[in-house]
Formats: sequence, C-alpha cells, structure tokens
Amino acid sequence: MRNPMIAGNWKMNKTPSETVELIEALKKIEVRSGAEVVVCPMTACLCAAAGALKDSKIKLGAQNVHFEDKGAFTGECNAATLKELGVEYVIIGHSERRQYFAETDETVNKRTLKALESGLKPIVCVGESLTQKEQGITNEVVCLQTKVALLGVGEKIDDVVIAYEPVWAIGTGRTATPEDANDTIRAIRGAVREVYGDAADRVRILYGGSMNDKNAHDLMAQPEIDGGLIGGASLVAEKFEKVINFN
Ligand code: 13P
Repeated sequence: MRNPMIAGNWKMNKTPSETVELIEALKKIEVRSGAEVVVCPMTACLCAAAGALKDSKIKLGAQNVHFEDKGAFTGECNAATLKELGVEYVIIGHSERRQYFAETDETVNKRTLKALESGLKPIVCVGESLTQKEQGITNEVVCLQTKVALLGVGEKIDDVVIAYEPVWAIGTGRTATPEDANDTIRAIRGAVREVYGDAADRVRILYGGSMNDKNAHDLMAQPEIDGGLIGGASLVAEKFEKVINFN
C-alpha cells in the first residue's frame, strides 16, 4: 500500500554539467520496480537539473531548505525558490547537517513545517550515532528525533517521508542488517502512530546508509522498509539503476 521510493542524495558532488550528464543517463532507465525515483543534487545545480528532468518521471529534490521566507541568512535557500525551480521533495535534518552545520531537532522541525507550508514534501532524516547504538538507545533516539521533527505537522503528515539513516552506516560501507533496519523503522512508525494514529501506515520510511546495488534487494524485502536514500551508489548510473530495480 506504500509506493516505494528510491532517492539519490548527491551531497556535495557533481557540477551542473555533470549533474545533467548523470540525469541523462538515469532517464534511460526502465523502472521495473514501480518505485518513485527522486534525485537531490546540490542547490546550485537544481536549475540545471530541473531543465534536464523536463518530461521525465524522475522527481527533483533539494538537500536543505531554510525556515524563514527571506532575509539576512547568508548561504541559505528559501522554500519559494525551490518551488519555483520545480523541486518537489527536500531532505531535512541529514546527519551531516546536524554534525557539521549545527542542525538540531528544533531547526529540523522548523524547516519541516516551512517545507510543508510551502508545498514541498520533506524527507526527514533521523538516525543514531555509533555510541548511541552501542549504548542500546537506538529506538529512544530515533523516536525522539521523529516526534520533535514532526511536531505540529497536522494533516500534512501524508506529505512527509522519513529516512532512517544510522550515522555509523553513512559512507562507511557498513550497513544495518535488513532485520535491524526493519526493527528500527517499525519503532519509528510506532512513534508516528502515537501522534498521528493510522496515518503512520501511509508514511513512507526509507533506509539510508551504504545502501547499494548489492544489498538493496535484501533491505527492500523487509516489510517496514519503503525505500532507500542513497549516497555514494546514486552517483554512478549503473549502480543506481540496480538499486532502483531492487526486485
Ligand atoms: P551512503 O549511501 O554514501 O552511505 O550515504 C547515505 C546517505 O547519507 C544518504 O543520505
């Protein structure tokens, strides 16, 4: 009942011309899995990406959005600009933003509310650190992150996508086992259910963290895992194609 989503987070990779080149390669892929495919290039490449994606079913996502409409926020990008560029999804609260750019659960919540108010669909990232995993508090951490991120979302909950990305699995080649990822995602869905009731069954929850052409099939076979947020493996068309057609 939940349509799978495979989203590529290109992080700070690919110039505008390289972005267009990769999109042109991805446009040739026949999507046999039925997944909704999303690409999230760098902010400065969104315009070029939007042009290349015209007449394509691949959706455009951004990697961040500010919570104010406009003003003195050097280096940030507002929701109105993303909308005007044809962006549909926006990643919010990625662990790299939490780690390097002082993003907190509270700013994640503010950005999520602004995205929804502006007609953008947030892909809200949650995930535990290695220390938290070793302390056995993964579920507490991700459930709290989820609840704070989604405070005040109300009926817009149906536009929200959540990505569970264990920090220790990002860019490390270490992946959560399919069973562990499934269990944690079930806990996250439980946290959504506590606040939003049965809407929790409609919210897509993705797994991210070294998901690639080799492990996508096993991860996607888990009942709670509704898709993937892919870093490294989404930068190479041949690898991303195998993730997209995970079945
Ligand atoms: P990797 O797939 O490179 O581990 O990155 C995952 C990620 O952070 C996606 O947002």
